[in-house]
Amino acid sequence: MKNRIELDFWAYPNEILNRMRREGVLCTVVDEASNHNVITLGWGQIGPFYHGHPVLAIAVTPQRHSWIFLEKVPEFVIAVPDDSLRKAVDLCGTISGRDADKFKASGLTPVESACVKAPSILECPINIECRIYAKVSPPHFLLTPEHRKAPVGYQHTIYFAEVLGTFGWEADCGHQDP
Ligand SMILES: Cc1cc2nc3c(=O)[nH]c(=O)nc-3n(C[C@H](O)[C@H](O)[C@H](O)COP(=O)(O)O)c2cc1C
Repeated sequence: MKNRIELDFWAYPNEILNRMRREGVLCTVVDEASNHNVITLGWGQIGPFYHGHPVLAIAVTPQRHSWIFLEKVPEFVIAVPDDSLRKAVDLCGTISGRDADKFKASGLTPVESACVKAPSILECPINIECRIYAKVSPPHFLLTPEHRKAPVGYQHTIYFAEVLGTFGWEADCGHQDP
């Protein structure tokens, strides 16, 4: 098991936003019974500050299985993938957790997080643990005109969250006991 290390969130906004706008980032969610799910997200915003913590906003439509989890447990983890995880990110953005266990299907490993119930992902170099403090339900004017053409029931809920912690993993030094 790799050791968790704390990272400085403000070293990574470019990496997070670039991943989001290209292949997407992973977002894990959990329900009261500790069932979890993972979804690929391409829409997000970053800014300072809520009670001194960085702010991260995501948008999820009620059609997504993950939306139900967010409504039940207002927490999530944004797990930022690297290039080696492209297939897994694609899978989590095309299959629904209603139909499959996406962790098993993608080979991603959920591990306990430090500050929230939603799991972190072992294979992702950056895991951002977030607690939702506000949400904006449609109709609203926060997304693109294209998004606003959809029926209201299909439009995204925007969740604003405070970043409670940003974590990575200690580099594997390759040391093996004799
Ligand atoms: C690159 C990419 C970005 C996506 N961005 C979002 C997003 O920001 N919000 C959203 O609700 N769905 C987004 N999706 C769609 C969901 O990831 C997809 O519908 C997923 O299968 C839903 O999983 P779930 O039903 O298990 O929650 C995106 C998909 C891809 C491939």
